[in-house]
Formats: sequence, C-alpha cells, structure tokens
Amino acid sequence: MDRDLLVPEPLSTPHGTVAFFDETWSVDPRELQIFFQAEEVYWTADRTIGQWRRLLACSRLLTARLVPEGHRGGRLVGATRLWSDHAYEAKLYDVVTARDLMGQGIATELVKWALRHPWAGEVQRYVLETRDAADFYPRFGFRLGAEVDSFHMRVGLAELEQRGLR
Ligand SMILES: CC(C)(COP(=O)(O)OP(=O)(O)OC[C@H]1O[C@@H](n2cnc3c(N)ncnc32)[C@H](O)[C@@H]1OP(=O)(O)O)[C@@H](O)C(=O)NCCC(=O)NCCS
Repeated sequence: MDRDLLVPEPLSTPHGTVAFFDETWSVDPRELQIFFQAEEVYWTADRTIGQWRRLLACSRLLTARLVPEGHRGGRLVGATRLWSDHAYEAKLYDVVTARDLMGQGIATELVKWALRHPWAGEVQRYVLETRDAADFYPRFGFRLGAEVDSFHMRVGLAELEQRGLR
C-alpha cells in the first residue's frame, strides 16, 4: 500500500490551503501546547511538555496546517492523536480544529485519516471519549457506549491508591 495515498488531499479554504501531516516525530511539543492552550482545549489545560513528549512516544500525531506554499511549516490549525494496542482496539484523542478554521472539513479529514492509518494495525474497533462533540462522530459510524454490548469501566489512580493496589 502506498502510504502517501493514505494522507488526505489538501483542503482549499478561505484562509488558504490546509495540508495534512503525520508529525509524530517532528512536531515541537511546545507548539502543540501553545496551540491547544490558544484553542482553550480544557482537557489539555494542565498537560505539561513532558506529558506531550510521553504521549507522542506511544501514539501518532496527525496534524493540519495552513500552508499557502503547499509545504510543511505553516500555522498549525488542526490535530488529532491516534493510539492503538495493535490487536484489538485503537483510540482517537485530542481532536481539535482552530476556531477560525472550523467548518472547513479539517476534523473530518483528520478523523478519517486516523481511522485508516496503517500504524493502528489489525484492530477490531476504534473508540473515543467526548463530552462536547458526541453528535460529530456518528457520521463515521461511532455509536454511544450504551448501544454496544459491554460496559466501559474505568478506575482512577486515586482509587487504586486508596485500595492499596498502587
Ligand atoms: C469538533 C471539532 C473538532 C470539529 O472540527 P471541524 O474541523 O470544524 O469539523 P468539520 O469541518 O470536519 O465538520 C463540520 C461538521 O461537524 C459538525 N460539528 C462541529 N463541531 C461539532 C460538535 N461539537 N458537535 C457536533 N457536531 C459538530 C458541524 O456542524 C459540521 O456539520 P455538517 O458537516 O453537517 O455541516 C471542532 O468543533 C473542535 O475543535 N471543537 C473543540 C474541541 C472538541 O470538542 N473536540 C472534540 C473532542 S472529542
């Protein structure tokens, strides 16, 4: 499979051309932090550079950039992060588009790219968690957990520590 064919085609927007990149190994975590803070992405508000680095080490970072010249290096305007166990489950995180570029199809292209990204491997399902955008994901086939046949369960670190399990 030709990997280049899997990258979304650049999008033409009123602000210029938006191109897509896999920047897992090349992105500056400080640029990511600034972008997510500028877009007031509340769930990353406390995320440190060190945490960004560790996340990049175990997942893939797909980006969208305004690139009038058609080259890498333009303003970061969208991102998503893909994680996978490479056998059963892959998960989408941190789907964000810059406010002034919303509605141009950027997140749609990033999500579709993540869903076909070969790095995820032979998984059986894709999952995500969202508080604000549950109505955005059915167009890709995502359904609420209540409609599937098992329970999503979780335990936090504080609870594990309280039980002496950590
Ligand atoms: C959700 C988000 C990523 C969509 O990005 P985008 O690039 O504007 O999306 P696209 O242009 O690809 O798609 C636009 C479509 O999604 C819909 N949409 C956008 N945000 C939505 C939301 N929060 N809930 C439901 N639908 C949404 C639009 O109404 C539009 O629908 P249409 O195609 O029927 O007209 C963007 O609004 C965002 O960054 N929100 C803040 C961060 C966030 O909540 N991310 C999701 C975390 S799981």
